[in-house]
Amino acid sequence: MKLCFATNNRNKLIEVSSLLNDSIELLSLSDIGCLEEIEETQATIEGNSLQKAEYIFNKYNVAVFADDTGLEVEALNGEPGVKSARYAGELRDNEANIQLLLSNLKSKPNRDAQFKTVITLITEKEKVQFEGIVKGSIAEQKMGEEGFGYDPIFVPNEYNMSFAQMSMEEKNQISHRGLAVKKLVDYLNQNY
Ligand code: IMP
Repeated sequence: MKLCFATNNRNKLIEVSSLLNDSIELLSLSDIGCLEEIEETQATIEGNSLQKAEYIFNKYNVAVFADDTGLEVEALNGEPGVKSARYAGELRDNEANIQLLLSNLKSKPNRDAQFKTVITLITEKEKVQFEGIVKGSIAEQKMGEEGFGYDPIFVPNEYNMSFAQMSMEEKNQISHRGLAVKKLVDYLNQNY
């Protein structure tokens, strides 16, 4: 079966294709000829994940899954959440996003947070969502150089280092996206 992963991120594609069995041929967005930007205009992570998968399924008529991720900070009522990429503005500037988050948390004793990834799979026969959550807290300052996004300020529970201080393999073992991908892959390998 051909299955599109609604991304052009090579790292994500390699990671998932290495886990899938041979009956599934994984395609990227460029493989199916989708070069346009896909809208993410919904109010929730679940909604955006569904919106992206539905767009591809309806327009390109291929089985597909799409992921969407957000960082939810308890003392900020779940923000930046669905706005994680654009928290400090339309430029999607990681450094500006981190500085805004640290400044908004300055006077707050509760620094608990979680990353949440939702993957939506749509095929001819069904529409299913898979969720991955990792709980942790927001550090007082940046730590580490690895990873991307909010990694330098996210410390997973039971660790005393940030995601940006871990290797990619270490992070993938426990991360929101790693957990959601594992659920998806187990499901696909059992059912397709
Ligand atoms: P996306 O849905 O994977 O594009 O993620 C949306 C935004 O959430 C990204 O632009 C990052 O700011 C943030 N984000 C997603 N995943 C991670 C992660 O694993 N580490 C740090 N930040 C992340």
